[in-house]
Amino acid sequence: MKILMIASEAEPFAKTGGLADVVGALPRALARLGHAVDVVIPRYRGVTAGERAGRVVVPLDGSPRAADIFTVRDRGVRTVFVDHPGYYDREHLYGTGGEDYADNPARFTLLVRVALEWAASTGDRYDVVHAHDWQAGLAPVLLDRAFRGSPAFGRTATVLTIHNLAYQGLADRAWLGRLGLGAELMHVDALEYWGRISFLKGGIAFSRVITTVSPRYAQEIQTPEYGFGFDGILRHRAADLVGILNGIDYDQWDPARDPHLPVAYDAEHLEAKHALKRLVCETFGLEAPEPAGRPLVAMISRLVDQKGFDLVTQIADELPRLDASFVLLGTGEPRYEALWRGLAARHPGRIGARIGFDEALAHRIEGGADLFLMPSRFEPCGLNQMYSLRYGTVPVVRATGGLYDTVQNVDSATGRGTGFTFDAYSADALLAALRRALETYRNRPAWRRIQAAGMRQDFSWEASARQYAAAYERATIGTGDLPGGPGGPERERDGIR
Ligand code: ADP
Ligand code: GLC
Repeated sequence: MKILMIASEAEPFAKTGGLADVVGALPRALARLGHAVDVVIPRYRGVTAGERAGRVVVPLDGSPRAADIFTVRDRGVRTVFVDHPGYYDREHLYGTGGEDYADNPARFTLLVRVALEWAASTGDRYDVVHAHDWQAGLAPVLLDRAFRGSPAFGRTATVLTIHNLAYQGLADRAWLGRLGLGAELMHVDALEYWGRISFLKGGIAFSRVITTVSPRYAQEIQTPEYGFGFDGILRHRAADLVGILNGIDYDQWDPARDPHLPVAYDAEHLEAKHALKRLVCETFGLEAPEPAGRPLVAMISRLVDQKGFDLVTQIADELPRLDASFVLLGTGEPRYEALWRGLAARHPGRIGARIGFDEALAHRIEGGADLFLMPSRFEPCGLNQMYSLRYGTVPVVRATGGLYDTVQNVDSATGRGTGFTFDAYSADALLAALRRALETYRNRPAWRRIQAAGMRQDFSWEASARQYAAAYERATIGTGDLPGGPGGPERERDGIR
């Protein structure tokens, strides 16, 4: 199949989170299965890859906008960069100081429009347009409204992947006209959402198949607790909604060949982790660890509510009383940055914090830590718990979304399992799971068995890529009876406006 993927980030070019890992690795896995994938992302500040390969002009926000196209080929995938410095040559990808850039609707509409125009100009026929998250949510909408006449897209199937329902791409309705979108899209069955427009809702309404990044999350988002107001819309599309667990890229995340680690190891040579632990403790100025001594608990995360940092705040006074050391690598909300800076300042030697984004350090922490903490309030998939399993770093997680699907709670009777999970979103439940893990850590043979069980898990991309290919097939078969858009059947009204 010939696939056009549109997204706002892709590793190794631009990354703020797991979306980039997925948009980097999935196309390579699809290419290994024999599919041809073009991935379109913005050419942000700092992106130097690619050769200039043309120019596209599209009307937007009252004037024609020109974008230069750069392309690069790597591991069977063509990545296409949309260069429009006024929009993308900025300090951050999405916003600054906790605020989104005010022109994000225009920035990501340009991305999608240019992607479709460029693809239409290549002379290729695309079997699938695969959009990721709200930033690409208008792709199926624009395809339906403006590109069906193009030979490139005459019979193209549309697939939207929701990586995180919390980000809905909401904008004032006035944007509709500014973006050149017809007023009829201000409709309950299209983009309209409580008087505003939602790019994500448009993507859901106009895509033939909707995927999300774990089977559990696919079910959760159909409930009010996890649906962020979209549960009714998603229940309505339940027959077209599939959960496909993310894979992990073992070319990047494998302790036996990770270029960021000074020492390589595998399940048979776990003693090497001690040298890495010493290195991490040194990096964070913590007391040097004894072999099999006090365990090191790590977090690597965006510092946002989703990741459970309010629970961590509640147990902050308990942390130094536990027989463990802690390191955090992350950036995000100022109050959580302050929390960790404060903890590290009050308990040097036991708690370390690095506020920033550091890929190499993230790999070394996965290598050196004994436990990895992810007490998420919700987690569409989560990648770090899977990296941790591979690195023999035992995860302690809340059983939600992808965490539920990937970490098996250690059974106290049999000792079987790959990590420690808790159900209730509460500080007590988190603390109890952490205590259970720290106690088990002292039983060295039991701990080794848990580490080995985790390292044996296979989360390689191939199986997931096959499921995406199946979703593309399904979307293709369904083309023609597009469910979205005004004129479609009247919707069930519960929870939908
Ligand atoms: P999310 O996408 O919600 O942030 P995931 O677990 O899916 O969560 O993916 C997070 C990705 O971003 C992982 O690859 C993780 O290692 C990386 N990451 C997050 N914060 C940092 C950071 N401060 N420095 C380096 N890598 C980070
Ligand atoms: C989102 C989710 C995360 C998921 C990632 C990649 O950022 O928060 O759980 O792993 O997307 O799909």
